[in-house]
Amino acid sequence: MKTFLQIVYWFLIAIALIQFIPIDRTNKAVDQKVNFVHLFKTPENVQEVLTKACYDCHSNETIYPKYAYVAPISWSIKHHVNEGREHLNFSEWGHYNQDLKKSMLENAARSIKDYSMPMPGYVAQHPKSNLTKAERVLLVNYFENLLKSGAY
Ligand code: HEC
Repeated sequence: MKTFLQIVYWFLIAIALIQFIPIDRTNKAVDQKVNFVHLFKTPENVQEVLTKACYDCHSNETIYPKYAYVAPISWSIKHHVNEGREHLNFSEWGHYNQDLKKSMLENAARSIKDYSMPMPGYVAQHPKSNLTKAERVLLVNYFENLLKSGAY
C-alpha cells in the first residue's frame, strides 16, 4: 500500500511539473497574399465548412480547446497541429509550387470523400466538424472544380 501511494504521489507531482513546460500556441499572422481563401475568393459557405472542419490543423488560424492547455494532452494536440500544417497549410498556399498545389487539391478531395479527413479522433471532440454529406460534397466539388479549371 505504501509503495502504491508513493507511486500516486510522484505521478501527481510529475503531472503538476509538466504543466510548466512551455508550448507555443501563438498563431502566425495570416498573410492575405498567400492565403488560400483570399486568393481564390472562396465563397462564404465553402469557407465556413473549410474553417470548421480543417482550419484547426491546416491553417494559421487554429483555435485551441480548453483541454489543449493541460499537459500531456496539449503535447499531443500541438503535435497534430504541427503535423497537419506541415502537410498542408491553407494560410500559406501561395508558397507552394504547382505540383504541390495540384496534389494537395487531389488529396484534399480524396481525404474528404474517404472520411479520413477531418481526422476521426478530432471529429469525436468537435461535433461541428462532423460534416454532413452535403457539406462534404460542397468541399469536394469546390476542390475538384479548382483542379479542372487549372487556375490554382
Ligand atoms: C485534428 C487535425 C486535423 C484536421 C481537423 C484535419 N486534418 Fe488533414 N491532416 C492532419 C494530419 C496530422 C495530417 C498528416 C498525417 C496524415 O496524413 O494522416 C493530415 C494530412 C492531410 C492531407 C494530406 C496531405 C499530404 O501530404 O498528402 C490532406 C490533403 C488533408 N489533411 C486535408 C484535410 C482537410 C481537407 C481537412 C478538412 C476537411 C482536414 N485535413 C482536417 C490533421 C488534420
